[in-house]
Amino acid sequence: MTQNLLEICYLIGSITFIVGLKMMGNAKTARNGNLVAAAGMTLAIVGTLFLHDKKVSGIIYGLIFAAIAIGTVIGWLTAKKVQMTKMPELVSIFNGMGGACAALISLIEYNHLYTELQDPVYVAALALSGSAGSLIGTLAAIMAGLIIGTVSFSGSIIAFMKLNGSMAKPIRLPSYNIINTLVMIAVLAFGTYLVFTGGNITLVYLLFVAAAIYGILFTIPIGGADMPVVISLLNSFTGLAAAFGGFLYDNKIMLTGGILVGSAGTLLTLVMCKAMNRPLSNVIFGAFGGSSASDSTDTATKGSIKDINVTDLAILMNYSKKVVIVPGYGLAVAQAQHIIHELELLLEDRGVEVKYAIHPVAGRMPGHMNVLLAESNVAYEKLVEMDDINPEFEQTDVVLVVGANDVVNPAAKTDPSSPIYGMPILEVDKAKNIIVNKRSMNAGYAGIDNLLFYDSKCSMFFGDAKKALTELVAEIKTL
Ligand code: TAP
Repeated sequence: MTQNLLEICYLIGSITFIVGLKMMGNAKTARNGNLVAAAGMTLAIVGTLFLHDKKVSGIIYGLIFAAIAIGTVIGWLTAKKVQMTKMPELVSIFNGMGGACAALISLIEYNHLYTELQDPVYVAALALSGSAGSLIGTLAAIMAGLIIGTVSFSGSIIAFMKLNGSMAKPIRLPSYNIINTLVMIAVLAFGTYLVFTGGNITLVYLLFVAAAIYGILFTIPIGGADMPVVISLLNSFTGLAAAFGGFLYDNKIMLTGGILVGSAGTLLTLVMCKAMNRPLSNVIFGAFGGSSASDSTDTATKGSIKDINVTDLAILMNYSKKVVIVPGYGLAVAQAQHIIHELELLLEDRGVEVKYAIHPVAGRMPGHMNVLLAESNVAYEKLVEMDDINPEFEQTDVVLVVGANDVVNPAAKTDPSSPIYGMPILEVDKAKNIIVNKRSMNAGYAGIDNLLFYDSKCSMFFGDAKKALTELVAEIKTL
């Protein structure tokens, strides 16, 4: 009876994961989607603790509840305190913990199995029942969970260090691609050997160390700026490792959850790569995004830049019919989402039509701009996707680019030698006036110059986005 109840909890939990994931696909329903999936997870945990037919002692219950309480407090506080721009770091460390859990499950289960295999009665019973095949299946799930979980763990820790600046420069050993491929093959071969021979505890710990080394080698050559893609990939690894755990315990919700995380992570990785117009292999082997700015264009070809003062800009915007705002990473850094919303409302008050142009990889994580602008209550219908807004630029009086760079760089369309060549961009150069707000002429994520800034229609409005927009709003109010 209790077993059936537990299965029902798992079924409801699995359904909430799927429904929650679907709801997370839309900014309006994303928050509730998260809550729905969290409720399902809570039900599955509580069900397992109280309905599982394997009972544990009071001390073990105490340890489990203490671990849940400590984890909840740490998770809650860090998620509450983290700044939006630090979100990829948080995701990488959380993901690393997921990978570590999957690896620990494999180590513990191997220990159990190994102890059982030392018992001649157990081995004889196994041989008699003809279950040697299922033993290989169990060992395969253990080794796969161990390798994938450990790679995800050590890789995520390196990703975290790269994002928080403690490992700023990519480390590229000579012929690192060949070395990494060889280490990967060696780890897989070692795991396969352990599956078919059964191995021993020392060898399994050695496999753990080897997989951890591979996770480090895999991540260190990749530039910090490509880390969001790598984290998403490692996240899919963690999902896969958890799914192997579900297979080991014959636990349906672990299996479903792991498969959902694995497939969602894989899809997200591919979507990010597509939006950057770079194959995944280029992210992993291409060593892009960590190099310093390369600028092959000479000054004569670039032309000169002009800047605009706050008074002239206020007049230009106040008397425009249509303004499109292009938010980018700098908007998030400056935390200028509230003041930009104030600017939008002010302009609309003056009869100006205002929209936001959202590039799929603006910022540093998927949906970064949507989340940021939702925080300041910008109406969802004002956020227009790239393909829908591009045809509108020709009828736009002013495009205000705030802290965006690569996503408006025309080199993506015109310069085949550019690292971002082929990436779809917001075609702001078609607008009647282009205003770019940033602090300097520094490059963005791709580390390359942007000829848009030298366009005869473009004026630079230099300064930190929050400060500059605050001045602009104040100036428009005086008109
Ligand atoms: P970026 O090209 O990175 O440019 C951001 C610009 O913001 C910089 O040039 C910087 O110039 C400016 N900035 C920084 N702080 C500022 C502040 N306080 N006030 C005003 N401006 C500030 O950003 P983007 O156009 O959003 O493009 C995103 C890039 O990240 C793309 O290349 C994309 O491929 C990559 N990427 C995105 C993702 C996802 S999923 N979103 C994942 C991985 C990689 P100054 O220093 O001169 O101010």
